[in-house]
Amino acid sequence: MSLINLPVTASWRPVTTNKCPSKQTILFTIIFFMILIILYVVVGLKQEPKTEIKYLLDLLKGSSPKVLKVSYDFVTEPRKIMSLKTIQNISFQYYNGSNLTSIENYDGPNQTPTETPLKSTIKKKELRMQATNYLTQYASLFDPNKTTTLKADPNKSSTIQTWWQAAAMIDWYFNAPRRHVCSEIKTMGNWLICQDPPYTVRPPCLVYSFGINYDFSFDDAMSLLGCEVHSFDPSMKTETMKRGNNSFFYKWGISFVNTNTFVPRLDWYVKSRQEWTVRTLKQLMKELGHEKRTIDVLKMDVEGYEWGIVSNLIETDVLKYVRQFMLEFHLFPNFPSMSDYVHLYQTYTALREMGFIEYFNYPHPKTLKKAHFNNQCDVHFVNIYFNWTSQA
Ligand SMILES: *[C@@H]1O[C@H](CO)[C@@H](O)[C@H](O)[C@H]1NC(C)=O
Ligand SMILES: *[C@@H]1O[C@H](CO)[C@@H](O)[C@H](O)[C@H]1NC(C)=O
Ligand SMILES: *[C@@H]1O[C@H](CO)[C@@H](O)[C@H](O)[C@H]1NC(C)=O
Ligand SMILES: *[C@@H]1O[C@H](CO)[C@@H](O)[C@H](O)[C@H]1NC(C)=O
Ligand SMILES: *[C@@H]1O[C@H](CO)[C@@H](O)[C@H](O)[C@H]1NC(C)=O
Ligand SMILES: *[C@@H]1O[C@H](CO)[C@@H](O)[C@H](O)[C@H]1NC(C)=O
Ligand SMILES: *[C@@H]1O[C@H](CO)[C@@H](O)[C@H](O)[C@H]1NC(C)=O
Repeated sequence: MSLINLPVTASWRPVTTNKCPSKQTILFTIIFFMILIILYVVVGLKQEPKTEIKYLLDLLKGSSPKVLKVSYDFVTEPRKIMSLKTIQNISFQYYNGSNLTSIENYDGPNQTPTETPLKSTIKKKELRMQATNYLTQYASLFDPNKTTTLKADPNKSSTIQTWWQAAAMIDWYFNAPRRHVCSEIKTMGNWLICQDPPYTVRPPCLVYSFGINYDFSFDDAMSLLGCEVHSFDPSMKTETMKRGNNSFFYKWGISFVNTNTFVPRLDWYVKSRQEWTVRTLKQLMKELGHEKRTIDVLKMDVEGYEWGIVSNLIETDVLKYVRQFMLEFHLFPNFPSMSDYVHLYQTYTALREMGFIEYFNYPHPKTLKKAHFNNQCDVHFVNIYFNWTSQA
């Protein structure tokens, strides 16, 4: 609709038929104000659209000299998320496709976060306070004298560019409200499985379990359920053996490479130099004769190596065989390196985009100081894109 069409022509016609000069003055005055109004509208429109991001940024801009960095991100599935968080008491605002929504004071997995529409309930001043609170708490993680402003691009998740932004977003995933509702969660030793259809685990089921450290409680529980269970741990002083009628132990590890001379980093479990036999999941499935078989449950606790391994699982296209996947994610003080965090964040989002959605998270106590940054979480996924017609 053209703005010019409306009142201008309506007032033009009667005036032009009248030759009175005083009326002409009135006409010029009217035109002058019309131009002013049109200019006002045009300039106003140029400032639009005032999106939610812009709205937030505007608020943050003027809030205080201590406002240094704003971290936000847009993830395509299942909801568009915008994060703006405090450390312990996380405060999130996210754009869900239609409304900017806020989760406030979400303080752990046992608390149900309250979602409130931001625009209607939170006043500018309150939002500014939340933002300042977030920035103050995050200040220990970066140089508080440096000012950085990020441009918002809702079409890209590449607004995450620094280690601490990536760490914040990974932390968000660890603490986010559960995305997939599993009504029947069963404890299996030291892990959980989802027993909701269609994910129900029942014989003939195949289970891969990586990282045992002498605790076979999960493996034995899955074995009792009637599953074929393959357990792996190269760090144990236990040789490869048959553990039961349908359960096996291998002194091998999962990795992103195939080698018999993998030298692991020293940690809590590896006190001296060792050489391990490690395989990719794709190679293990081949060697065990499970090529193209469904893995009902894949469990992994591999002390920081999971990031590279998940990358490899994605690259080698084996996740399509997996129905449930649970693993402990680790961010140790120096492993993986902070310079890799942005990539780790991308790995996590890639996994989610492949259909792996969390139904239960168990975040461990964390340390959010740069010098000894530490964050870990047990994450339980179901594969919502599993192709039920291709695999029985
Ligand atoms: C979170 O906020 C509540 C109330 O604002 C406070 O009582 C609680 O101690 C906070 N939790 C943490 C971990 O700071
Ligand atoms: C969501 O936003 C739309 C317009 O963008 C508005 O009409 C609607 O009332 C909002 N809903 C809530 C629950 O705030
Ligand atoms: C987004 O949030 C608004 C307000 O909370 C809600 O009414 C709406 O249904 C949500 N939309 C989606 C797609 O979740
Ligand atoms: C930040 O600036 C203040 C004042 O200029 C200075 O005292 C302080 O040492 C600086 N902090 C860092 C981490 O550089
Ligand atoms: C995002 O993508 C849509 C559709 O391709 C486009 O219309 C829009 O301008 C893009 N937004 C930005 C900020 O690039
Ligand atoms: C293993 O199989 C043998 C022979 O079929 C049977 O006697 C035994 O009870 C089985 N053991 C277990 C633990 O299922
Ligand atoms: C699922 O597998 C079947 C049989 O292999 C195939 O025809 C179908 O296209 C697959 N569906 C999807 C969504 O990939």
